[in-house]
Amino acid sequence: MSISDSELLSKASVLVTGATGGIGRAIVARCLAAGATVFAAGRNEAALNELHESAGKALIPLCYDVSDENAVKDTFRQLQRMVSDGVAPPLYGLVNCAGVMLESPLSVTKMDNLKAQLNINLLAPYQHMQLASRLMSRLRRGSIVNVVSQVGEQGSSGMSAYAASKAALTGATKSLAKELAPVGIRVNAVAPGFIDTSLTSHYDEAAQQAVFKRVASGRAGTPEEVADAIFYLLSPQAGYTSGQVLGVDGVFTP
Ligand SMILES: NC(=O)c1ccc[n+]([C@@H]2O[C@H](COP(=O)([O-])OP(=O)(O)OC[C@H]3O[C@@H](n4cnc5c(N)ncnc54)[C@H](OP(=O)(O)O)[C@@H]3O)[C@@H](O)[C@H]2O)c1
Repeated sequence: MSISDSELLSKASVLVTGATGGIGRAIVARCLAAGATVFAAGRNEAALNELHESAGKALIPLCYDVSDENAVKDTFRQLQRMVSDGVAPPLYGLVNCAGVMLESPLSVTKMDNLKAQLNINLLAPYQHMQLASRLMSRLRRGSIVNVVSQVGEQGSSGMSAYAASKAALTGATKSLAKELAPVGIRVNAVAPGFIDTSLTSHYDEAAQQAVFKRVASGRAGTPEEVADAIFYLLSPQAGYTSGQVLGVDGVFTP
């Protein structure tokens, strides 16, 4: 008999990075509604406190920069202490949602911008998977969902650095699904198209209409639509699914 979402998630913690962003907030809300304890990670303390005030003790705010290796290690120590002290249930889920998109053509791409995107979009999720999988493998169960992008899956002119960082994370997702299946951990990804969040808020009306011409559904996706897909992969409903990249893009050609 399979375990229901509420049975498992009411006794589980989920760590969500980028929890103060558009998609992050939506997946935090989805996990809280399923009864999970959520470690909400962000670097904006005021925004995290606001989330904490509205959600109550089921949400534990963690304030750090995901690209700061030592801060990530400290955070996992802190998290593990809370689990050992019974403040939070064991870590079952990880959603790597923090990300940045810095658009520029190759000829003018600054190396600092390339490195920032690789650090935040690839190295940080990798380190989080490494530390989370150590904890999950003790219980031989866990589910990791990486938020990648259709830009990484299909390529997009003027976005090569962002695309490279996300495509590399897709590669890590597929490989780690194979490596971690024997210890009961699933690793999947969600690849959104054009979603209405602060990441895309610099697109003016004309730029948005140009994008929508390439979306068969003719509109932007919502953070909640992405969160539904992430939640499915996170949950035991997807118990036999790993190494997959689920598009949430209204049929998009970048
Ligand atoms: N929106 C789209 O169309 C779209 C499409 C495909 C993929 N995605 C991916 O979806 C994910 C979520 O993006 P979103 O659309 O929800 O955008 P968003 O609203 O801008 O959220 C991004 C989140 O990442 C956090 N973040 C960035 N750098 C960080 C760092 N160094 N340390 C800690 N947190 C950091 C941001 O925190 P601050 O607020 O403190 O900066 C914010 O909470 C990203 O990985 C993005 O690449 C988005």
